[in-house]
Amino acid sequence: MITQYMHTLDHIRKSFNGATSRADRSEIGQFLTPAAIAKFMSAMFETGPQRVRILDPGAGAGVLFATCVETLISRTERPQSIEVVAYETDSTILPYLEDTLRKCHSFCASKGIEFHGTIKADDFISAALAEVDGSLFLAPGKRFTHAVLNPPYKKINSKTAMSRKLYLSGIEVANLYAVFVWLSMSLLERGGQIVAITPRSFCNGPYFKKFRAAFLRMMSLKRIHIFESRKKAFGDDNVLQENVIYHAVRGLQKPKSVSISVSEGLDFDKASILAVPYSQVVHPGDTDMFVHLDVKKTDTTPSKQVKCFTSSLGKLGLSVSTGRVVDFRAREHLKQSPQQGDVPLIYPCHFANGFINWPVESGKKPNAITSDAETSTLLVEAGFYVLTKRFSAKEQQRRIMAAVYDPARINSPYVGFENHLNYYHQNGKGLPADLAKGLALYLNSTIVDQYFRLFSGHTQVNATDLRKIPYPTREQLTRLGASIGETMPDQEAIDSIVEKECSSLDK
Ligand SMILES: C[S@@+](CC[C@H](N)C(=O)[O-])C[C@H]1O[C@@H](n2cnc3c(N)ncnc32)[C@H](O)[C@@H]1O
Repeated sequence: MITQYMHTLDHIRKSFNGATSRADRSEIGQFLTPAAIAKFMSAMFETGPQRVRILDPGAGAGVLFATCVETLISRTERPQSIEVVAYETDSTILPYLEDTLRKCHSFCASKGIEFHGTIKADDFISAALAEVDGSLFLAPGKRFTHAVLNPPYKKINSKTAMSRKLYLSGIEVANLYAVFVWLSMSLLERGGQIVAITPRSFCNGPYFKKFRAAFLRMMSLKRIHIFESRKKAFGDDNVLQENVIYHAVRGLQKPKSVSISVSEGLDFDKASILAVPYSQVVHPGDTDMFVHLDVKKTDTTPSKQVKCFTSSLGKLGLSVSTGRVVDFRAREHLKQSPQQGDVPLIYPCHFANGFINWPVESGKKPNAITSDAETSTLLVEAGFYVLTKRFSAKEQQRRIMAAVYDPARINSPYVGFENHLNYYHQNGKGLPADLAKGLALYLNSTIVDQYFRLFSGHTQVNATDLRKIPYPTREQLTRLGASIGETMPDQEAIDSIVEKECSSLDK
């Protein structure tokens, strides 16, 4: 429903741009975000709390928060309630903004989600400064869980009253956009997330040093997307700034790596992504705290682009399906321990270091399922299968956790895979041993994890997601599998094996 509205918003953007002069818009830094960018931005938010409070400062017609609302409520773990606070000072665009808010309201209502939207036709800077000044007394519920912004871009005249006010609050920056980002992050709760599209000028240079220091101190920088072409992000609006999009989470812990992706323009599906160690993005000991985005140089880092693998599940002749045994529907067929005529039933608890370890005597999950006429459609023939968990915990190191079902370790002609798992197969049957091991190794690599996070902000790993990932060829997978023997190596070794396979392609 809102997807349709996205087209409407793009239409509004065009007609609004047509009806106003570029010079006037430039004067107030008004360049509205194309819906495709808004969608890409909102996908960067990780699944968060049940009660969502979104801040959109300088909201224009509201494309950013509307897309954010749509993205959050289309996820499996949807919020219970959403509140939007949108600041906008241009009265000519307010009717569009009101309309967008109404649309969000009715969309949420149709999904049974509580929605509350407020438009503040006030200067965001003054309002936020007042809040931040009194932040010690700010009720926890008043902080935001999400901030999404495409702020106005404009040089700040240091002689104005606003500039002095900012200075007194410790905010010293050269451009309005950095003030908006700074104040927005200050209004986030701990664990709150920001996604912003701004010029990349803050990444270096003395005028943004204080901003960088505050940003990198308060926020954990997770992701940066770079537009390769200067003109393409806001192509039709003649914006010559070099823009970047970034996602960061409020909290003191620094990430191990930052995902850096690059696209020429709006061709996000072709974007290449690198997991660059944090220390290469912000050099330790660099008092200027430059944010390094030179991805060409970072090509030599251990993390390689997943796009060096060009095969797909279809080309490999493989499929991935969800485990057929829904345990609560097959209750009468399940056994804690296998008896004569029973076969293994595999759950996520049977994952152990990249292989299936069965049975597990923890007592929490049944280990077996009867093998008879009633269960025959739920079972598959014994063979090498690659299993992945469908649900991952947030704190888990990787989203995709893969393990090999090795028939030589479990003596049974059939096996049942429970519905909390996905399994890779070849026409319903097992895979060659090395192919299966290579596939599990690849799926357990950091580059696949980074790639996956690019498209999925939630912790669930669906079969449809797994179908979208690029894969190595059969030969490459077999080579990867042959290199691991009977145990899955540790993360560092997995990544180095995959990297080696990737770099052998460059030669
Ligand atoms: C670059 S536009 C982006 C609009 C919208 N966020 C989007 O992505 O399409 C920035 C918006 O901020 C508004 N704005 C400028 N200064 C503002 C201020 N001090 N307080 C609130 N809004 C402001 C402008 O009118 C403009 O609509």
